[in-house]
Amino acid sequence: MAERIPIGSDHAGFALKQQLINELRAEGYQPDDLGTHSTESTDYPDFAHAVASQVEHGEAARGILLCGTGLGMAYAANRHPGVRAAVVWSPEVAELARSHNDANVLVLPARFVTEAEAVTILRTWLQTPFEGGRHNRRIAKIEQEPRPNA
Ligand code: RB5
Repeated sequence: MAERIPIGSDHAGFALKQQLINELRAEGYQPDDLGTHSTESTDYPDFAHAVASQVEHGEAARGILLCGTGLGMAYAANRHPGVRAAVVWSPEVAELARSHNDANVLVLPARFVTEAEAVTILRTWLQTPFEGGRHNRRIAKIEQEPRPNA
């Protein structure tokens, strides 16, 4: 069965989201479009929380978000326990976000990547496995409570 991947954007990421939805379908995935559905101005956290919540609760293994810079989406998505949302601007960063950081949410800065760049980033992120090993220990530490003065 095709993997369902929730995807969301604000108005700044809307056009690129539509293109990536087509790309996901062409690659055999089942994109689940959680909005936004037009270029009308919206609030990015609404979509970040919708996608990240599915990953947090195991309803989806991974998700995709887009906004102008990627930053606001990442701030909101990373508030969800177990979510590792990575802002990715190149295929090299996409590969490292997967192999070293096990990024389970891909965040694209729609105003700073071309469609061709975004498609290459998406394919790399989808296909690159997590390396495990020493990176498991580091990822486990992300979820630790910060210590005073640490
Ligand atoms: C919208 O103008 C813009 O602020 C938003 O897409 C995003 O870049 C926020 O981080």
